[in-house]
Amino acid sequence: MRDRFPLRFSAAERQALYEVIFARRDVRCEFLPDPVAPEQLWRVLDAAHHAGSVGFSQPWSFLVISDRERRARVRDVFLRETERAAERFPEEKAALYRRIKLEGILEAPINLCVTCDRERHGPEVIGRNTMRQTDIYSTCCAIQNLWLAARAEGLGVGWVSIIDPEEVKRIAGIPANQELVAYLCLGHVREFAEKPDLEKVGWLQRLPLSQVTFWEHWGERRSEPSGKFDHDAESTDGSVSSDVIEGRSAVESKAHNGQPGKGKAG
Ligand SMILES: Cc1cc2nc3c(=O)[nH]c(=O)nc-3n(C[C@H](O)[C@H](O)[C@H](O)COP(=O)(O)O)c2cc1C
Repeated sequence: MRDRFPLRFSAAERQALYEVIFARRDVRCEFLPDPVAPEQLWRVLDAAHHAGSVGFSQPWSFLVISDRERRARVRDVFLRETERAAERFPEEKAALYRRIKLEGILEAPINLCVTCDRERHGPEVIGRNTMRQTDIYSTCCAIQNLWLAARAEGLGVGWVSIIDPEEVKRIAGIPANQELVAYLCLGHVREFAEKPDLEKVGWLQRLPLSQVTFWEHWGERRSEPSGKFDHDAESTDGSVSSDVIEGRSAVESKAHNGQPGKGKAG
């Protein structure tokens, strides 16, 4: 019988892991209203719960919200905060910012609050005596696990940080001593984009790995060796979906066009 935790994974298994990593996307426009099976959601949460954590403290909790009225209240918080955020950018960028869809709170059937209990197991945790933020980092590790497991399940996740965490905590009944680390939207999607939405609309580009990697001493760079996963193969369709820039959801596109995802802004 095959070892469940082999020393080495097969080439195909390793490839599958890289595929999931490079195919993960932050999803805002492509959510479908189809319900997520409870066992599928549980598997994704279980993957999150198996992340590394400082001192094995497992400081996270997950709050699943599907109630539409509650999600609508969170969306109102987003709308307020996103307007405030827009005002902070220079005029030209603010105009683009306002046109990018940055959440799928109502389109995704499931919203998730991921919180961090900064005193779980008491104030002292192995590994956290000098870097106090490591409990938050641990919670982010759980979120990344969740994001990847969801992708492996064919589910999309969108992280919404343009919110007032205290207001969202009130709406969701989260106690004051729990820190809200992430507000996530989760659901089935009509497609996964090949590139980040923000890259497609020209907000920012992916930095070369060799630019952000130093060797031996800060600032010392080397060129990239060959043998990297070929994830940069050009898309056959380099066009920018109008949904990304116009902020139309898959549901709206379908209603507009009779076909999910093929809508062109009017
Ligand atoms: C901590 C964090 C907060 C984020 N907040 C938002 C957000 O409020 N709205 C949004 O549309 N995307 C948000 N994102 C998604 C990023 O924009 C996205 O990860 C990035 O553009 C790269 O795209 P990709 O995730 O598809 O690779 C957030 C991501 C992270 C890690």
